[in-house]
Amino acid sequence: MSVIIDGRAIAQQIHAETAARVATLKTRGIQPGLVFVRVGEDPSSQVYVGMKEKKSAELGFRSTTLVLPATTSEAELLARIDALNADPQWHGILVQAPLPHPINAATVYARVDPEKDVDGFHPLNVGKLLLGDSDGFVPCTPGGIHELLIRSEVPIPGAEVVILGRGNIVGKPMASILVQKGRHANATVTVVHSGSRDVAEHCRRADILIAAMGVPEFVRASMVKPGATVIDVGVNRVPSPGSTTGTRLVGDVAFAEVAPIAGWITPNPGGVGPMTIAMLLSNTTRAAERATR
Ligand code: GUN
Repeated sequence: MSVIIDGRAIAQQIHAETAARVATLKTRGIQPGLVFVRVGEDPSSQVYVGMKEKKSAELGFRSTTLVLPATTSEAELLARIDALNADPQWHGILVQAPLPHPINAATVYARVDPEKDVDGFHPLNVGKLLLGDSDGFVPCTPGGIHELLIRSEVPIPGAEVVILGRGNIVGKPMASILVQKGRHANATVTVVHSGSRDVAEHCRRADILIAAMGVPEFVRASMVKPGATVIDVGVNRVPSPGSTTGTRLVGDVAFAEVAPIAGWITPNPGGVGPMTIAMLLSNTTRAAERATR
């Protein structure tokens, strides 16, 4: 049986570290400020932003959510971001994805001041990550997965890592992190995507398999090498006729059948999700520390 990677417990450790940094900032009269921008009424985004804002408040941050209608034009959203960039009470700005059509997400993320880009989505921070420059902000979900691997003492250098999914939020930055030369990286990274051949064959080679493509229970026992580390990033809503809501959430990994084979595995929920928030608040604290040095 595998070791279950307890994302809630590891996130709690990081929150405790962040709280200590927030207390130090407080002695200097500084309160980290994090502003969320949510455009439209995407139900998942409502839940995620609500959870992030609640945790921010718990840790003593100044935080608020700017809710804009789905009809907001790109120009209007950019003007709002300009105002937040110029407002010194906000050390971090998070524009929740997905953004409604026809807003161009790349244009929006490029407008956020890179020093306030606690999501790590600005092209400057994306570039720094790829270059191995630790000065930039690392996106929260892959940054959180990296912390899970490090703090669970999963061997990374030399490991065969297979990432399922090439999205800008998880797959690509995850590959950038693990391919770097460094004590907690130096892996051989394969990114598998919708254009890949022999997906199962790639997966079976993996020492570390990271599933982030958004297909319910895609990773089956037959695709996992015995002893491998399996990280489930998926949050998929599927029909569940017997339940009160008629739906339930499942990951990208068929946990019940994969867990007995894996060496380490994240539960879902309780694995990657809590880490995303922990890294966001850590990044924001870093932004506040840097802005007020
Ligand atoms: N939507 C899903 N994950 C994220 C994230 O990490 N940041 C933002 N801004 N939006 C998201």
